Amino acid sequence: MKRLGTALLAVWLLGWSGAGSAATSAVAAIEAHRHLGVATCSNSVCHGASQPFRDSNVLQNEFAIWQEFDPHARAYQTLASKASQDIARKLGIGDPAQAKVCLDCHADSIASDRRGERFQISDGVGCESCHGGAELWLNAHADRSVTHADNLAKGLYPTDQPVARAQLCLSCHMGTKDRMITHRIMGAGHPRLSFELDTFTWLHPHYKIGEAWTKRKGDWNGVRDWAVGQGVAAENLLDLVTDEKAGWQGIFPELVLFDCHACHKVMSGRKWGPRQGTGLGPGVVRLNDSNLLMFRHVLAPVDKAAAARLLEQTRALHKATTQSRDATFAAARRLRATIDELLPKVAAFAYGPDNLDAILASLEADAKRGEYRDYASAEQVAMAAQSVVVAFENDGKIDADKATVLRARLDGLYDTIKDEDAWSPQRFNSALSALRAVAP
Ligand code: HEC
Ligand code: HEC
Ligand code: HEC
Ligand code: HEC
Repeated sequence: MKRLGTALLAVWLLGWSGAGSAATSAVAAIEAHRHLGVATCSNSVCHGASQPFRDSNVLQNEFAIWQEFDPHARAYQTLASKASQDIARKLGIGDPAQAKVCLDCHADSIASDRRGERFQISDGVGCESCHGGAELWLNAHADRSVTHADNLAKGLYPTDQPVARAQLCLSCHMGTKDRMITHRIMGAGHPRLSFELDTFTWLHPHYKIGEAWTKRKGDWNGVRDWAVGQGVAAENLLDLVTDEKAGWQGIFPELVLFDCHACHKVMSGRKWGPRQGTGLGPGVVRLNDSNLLMFRHVLAPVDKAAAARLLEQTRALHKATTQSRDATFAAARRLRATIDELLPKVAAFAYGPDNLDAILASLEADAKRGEYRDYASAEQVAMAAQSVVVAFENDGKIDADKATVLRARLDGLYDTIKDEDAWSPQRFNSALSALRAVAP
């Protein structure tokens, strides 16, 4: 590992990004040496001064700036926020402040055997998350006779080099194959990521680029940084698109790599909730299962055990779509065989006034479980309810008053789904319960 880190740094100094996944190798370089912890840097004669030093090459109050203004210092605390708890609950990953998937970007998540005594995970994205493990350069780097090149050779990360800096920032601000912000995480409510190297470098700076800097590190050119940042981000996108694992989620490509607004005309919608009928987490594309869902209600008065089997096999199909094409085909064939076996029984069943409530009861039970989150399902439920209401009417056993009330409730149900862009599952569910309440 150490050797790899050094070799990569040498390559960066020449300004070449390499053919492999660039942002991934930035992480490897950052983690090549032991991380000693922010407390190691924040002594008042080091980087923990309250005011900039006059005769120093660097400000020396970097720690104060970082702690007070830089969101990186709060990245770990973010994981305790209500927003993070909500995301974690939807993903079913437990405490986000302990979940590797969150810590990888919101803290310095280097392996525990590479943490020094003063290292604290609660420091968030600390000095060594960007400047690299200080194990070998800590003692020497403050000595003016030591050159920048010497420090780099000992594992100081070249944050001054635009290509290397872009790779570093993007490893968290876009993600890598090992550190993915997936569409599922977005679906659970994580904010959309966007990044531009020059803009972001100057949002919360704890450094001063002046004569003392250029003498040691060369020219600074913001437009060049912008240009390089675009190239590195484009490469990183293509690395992810072409990665067999990271680029795919079951039978779908990883949606986080696509333009969000191509699918989401409105980004603020938050309708997701767990559904018994799919068993899927947030941000997963699902089959239009409205007919599968309805066929279970069809079976309610016919064969309860068969309805349960259908549910189980439907869940298996949904799960298979998140695994592979082969698994999806196998699960679909199993489910089709089950339906094929049940269809003659359903066709021969005498649906009538005595067993219609079983259907309404089954529809309502699913409403209470929150199964109708998709418009296509609500639409099918309304049509099922209509079918049942008409059957009661045709039966002739209900009086005219009752028939009028029943009709009015059915109209009320349809009313709630008139607008498919602005319907509310809650209003729909209440209208369905209101309908059943007056059914014979
Ligand atoms: C280890 C992961 C990681 C690395 C590396 C990283 N960042 Fe960040 N960055 C984050 C996280 C996480 C946040 C959000 C913190 C929060 O609010 O909880 C963030 C926030 C920011 C913000 C604030 C954004 C805003 O909307 O105000 C800026 C600016 C920023 N980063 C710039 C950079 C730059 C420039 C680099 C590279 C030199 C970089 N980051 C490297 C993880 C990282
Ligand atoms: C690939 C890196 C990455 C991963 C993985 C990641 N985050 Fe983030 N997160 C970021 C960055 C970068 C930002 C800041 C976005 C910006 O402002 O540009 C951020 C912002 C946030 C915010 C908003 C913070 C604010 O101040 O508004 C929350 C909440 C959050 N993340 C929670 C989580 C949780 C919980 C997880 C784990 C499920 C997670 N993140 C995983 C990189 C990541
Ligand atoms: C999000 C990434 C990031 C974090 C976190 C971070 N830095 Fe920096 N730091 C940079 C970048 C980018 C520069 C500017 C480029 C350069 O000089 O290498 C920089 C510059 C510096 C410089 C000036 C170097 C010079 O030669 O003038 C010092 C000193 C420094 N950082 C110390 C710290 C300390 C101490 C901490 C922790 C309290 C810290 N940094 C945290 C990214 C980071
Ligand atoms: C190819 C289409 C597609 C793309 C591209 C896409 N999404 Fe999604 N997104 C979906 C689907 C499908 C769902 C699942 C909707 C549901 O569960 O009702 C979803 C769900 C979500 C949700 C949860 C919505 C809810 O109702 O709770 C959020 C948030 C989200 N996506 C954000 C994003 C972001 C951010 C991006 C871009 C990085 C993105 N999506 C890209 C199709 C897409």
